[in-house]
Amino acid sequence: MCGPLLLLFGGLLVLPGTLTDPLSPPDLQLWAGLDLFSREDWAGAQAQLWGSVRSLRELREVRLRCGTECKLRGTQGPQLEEAVLSRADCLLGCERLLLGEPSLYRLTQETERVFQRGLPYNYLQVTHYKLEELDEAAAAAFTFYVKNPHHEQIQEDIQRYRRMKEIQEPSFQDLEQPQYKTVYAQALSLLSEGKLRVAVRRLEDSLKIYLMEHEDCRALCEGTREQESEIYKDFSYAISQYYTEVLQCKQNCALEPTLRPSGEHSKQDPLISHLSLLLDIYTKLEDWEAAAEIVRSLLLFQPRNETAKERLRGYEERLQGKNSGKLRESILSYVRRTLSEKKLLYYAMEHLNISFNDPDSWTPEEIIPEILRDRVKKEREEKDQRTLPFEEVTVTLTPKQMNGTTRVTLDGVINQEECQMLHSLGQAAGGPGSGFRGRLSPHTPRERIQGLTVLRALQMAASGAVDSSHARLYYRASERARVLAQSYFDTEKLHFSFTHLVCRSAIEGEQDSRNDFSHPVHADNCILDPEERECWKEPPAYVHRDYSGVLYLNDDFQGGDLFFTELDATTVTAEIRPSCGRLVLFGAGGENAHGVRAVTRGTRCAIALWFTKSAVHAEQERSLASDLMMGSDGHKQNKESETKNTGRETSGRETFASKEEPERPSGRRQKKRVNRKFEDEL
Ligand SMILES: *[C@@H]1O[C@H](CO)[C@@H](O)[C@H](O)[C@H]1NC(C)=O
Ligand SMILES: *[C@@H]1O[C@H](CO)[C@@H](O)[C@H](O)[C@H]1NC(C)=O
Ligand SMILES: *[C@@H]1O[C@H](CO)[C@@H](O)[C@H](O)[C@H]1NC(C)=O
Repeated sequence: MCGPLLLLFGGLLVLPGTLTDPLSPPDLQLWAGLDLFSREDWAGAQAQLWGSVRSLRELREVRLRCGTECKLRGTQGPQLEEAVLSRADCLLGCERLLLGEPSLYRLTQETERVFQRGLPYNYLQVTHYKLEELDEAAAAAFTFYVKNPHHEQIQEDIQRYRRMKEIQEPSFQDLEQPQYKTVYAQALSLLSEGKLRVAVRRLEDSLKIYLMEHEDCRALCEGTREQESEIYKDFSYAISQYYTEVLQCKQNCALEPTLRPSGEHSKQDPLISHLSLLLDIYTKLEDWEAAAEIVRSLLLFQPRNETAKERLRGYEERLQGKNSGKLRESILSYVRRTLSEKKLLYYAMEHLNISFNDPDSWTPEEIIPEILRDRVKKEREEKDQRTLPFEEVTVTLTPKQMNGTTRVTLDGVINQEECQMLHSLGQAAGGPGSGFRGRLSPHTPRERIQGLTVLRALQMAASGAVDSSHARLYYRASERARVLAQSYFDTEKLHFSFTHLVCRSAIEGEQDSRNDFSHPVHADNCILDPEERECWKEPPAYVHRDYSGVLYLNDDFQGGDLFFTELDATTVTAEIRPSCGRLVLFGAGGENAHGVRAVTRGTRCAIALWFTKSAVHAEQERSLASDLMMGSDGHKQNKESETKNTGRETSGRETFASKEEPERPSGRRQKKRVNRKFEDEL
């Protein structure tokens, strides 16, 4: 069993200098870097942090090579055991030769997670910024952002970098982007130029590269891992425990999220995205044979997809006699292997009580043992909820429970304290000393109403009329709602169309036998015509609005429920009670006609939000508000985000504000729009 060592390195390229100049362990460099960072030694920290990133890359490289070199040979009975031991020997020897003592390079799970989250890049962007290397800072920030698109601090930092004239657009690049994505993006851009033939070749390249990178990811799953619990002493059980962990890790390689243009993670398997796009292009090129081959490959994922089957029949008819029945071997073996691994994992789940979270939504039901099907289905539904970008937010009512397709109720969007802050902001907007007065509501003479836009709140904060932290919270809370809408409905980037913090108060003594509404039934992007049971999507309706949302701040009032109706404006299909931190999101069209029941006692405060997919219709006011947030008193805000952002452990951000002059778009157009809006937004 010791023969292989000598043979082994014949085919293996030993890195020059590896033996004399051993790799410095990534974790040591990482911790050294963070230590220097905390002592504000920017250059020193930077060198260590980059060193850790490079070491990690090299380490993975070596492990891949050793893995390839040390193939498992022999497959059955005692042969298998011998093969396993011999492979272990080979791997150990290989790594020892290329790296030194393996114990030096074992990372704890904690460190692995730090690298996975891309944390070094968040520190690197600061060190580069401090050293006035702006392009590098932007690239490091962007790299961290891609891994953490919902991290509020990094979103703001990216916006700041984008405003700095010195930084060119190409600097905003993901330094850890898998190669296939670069090639895929090239294919997309060729496609947009109408160069179909070149595009399709690029896409085929991208597919090949993806499959290779996928193999690498799988190979790295076999690395050493820290055992979380040591209680499994039984030989077979210990082995199956480890083996299923490796398999689960391999399954998750398909999960690698693709970043959509909106910055949201899409849930599509990259392989399916490739095939779907290839299918489109081959169809356009009228290359029926290639198209048929792709559909057959797609059908491996979804054998019951009738649309795909029909398309295949269409292509085969066109091909007539020349129908080869071919499909992509690479896809076939991918699907076969994935399914056989899934079978093992489900077996382990059924018989060994080992948990398995299947990352794929295309897994055919028959793979799952009958006894587990209900449980798996339930877990999948729960997982859907967990893909929300904020951990503390939960789905309270699914679209189905709300008797619609584009309606959802989320809870926990803001907490009790935040509700109170926003509530008092809404009331303070009534004017200093006046308590809560407001104007008479345009919808009913029995309520008073008060509204406040984000920009107005920030302006009032600037002049000291309201608490600045309250105004900032308003901005952030509305941003959270936007991200949630975008993510829940899985849309392209949503822009703000309008945001309004509105409080409605019952007028005392005028509530007897009320049968009107606080807000009559209407739809948000079309004119509801209940008699015709139609909704006319034409001006003066805000036709560009795509989604609406209401974030509630309190529940200590009577009445005021939100309700949805059919197009007849009378058949109620769902009714929602407001409560602090509850966000109701819905499509802005006639399918979600809605109204608000009379508020008969107390004050009901909520933030109403409208979103549009159209960048052209994004409201100007928001960008002015965002300038106010980032700009003049950004200093204070940075302090705030340090304490609030959970993922943030360090400081060193104060100089952003002083360095950067926020651009201020002219307010002329904006003023007109605000006036126009004021009437109907309440
Ligand atoms: C079925 O296949 C077609 C064509 O490939 C695709 O557009 C569609 O999304 C698939 N349906 C499902 C439910 O995945
Ligand atoms: C299965 O494992 C879970 C924890 O992972 C444990 O709570 C449960 O009791 C186990 N069930 C059986 C039958 O061993
Ligand atoms: C949806 O409809 C069902 C049956 O009519 C009803 O019981 C339920 O309350 C409705 N959902 C909501 C959120 O109102």
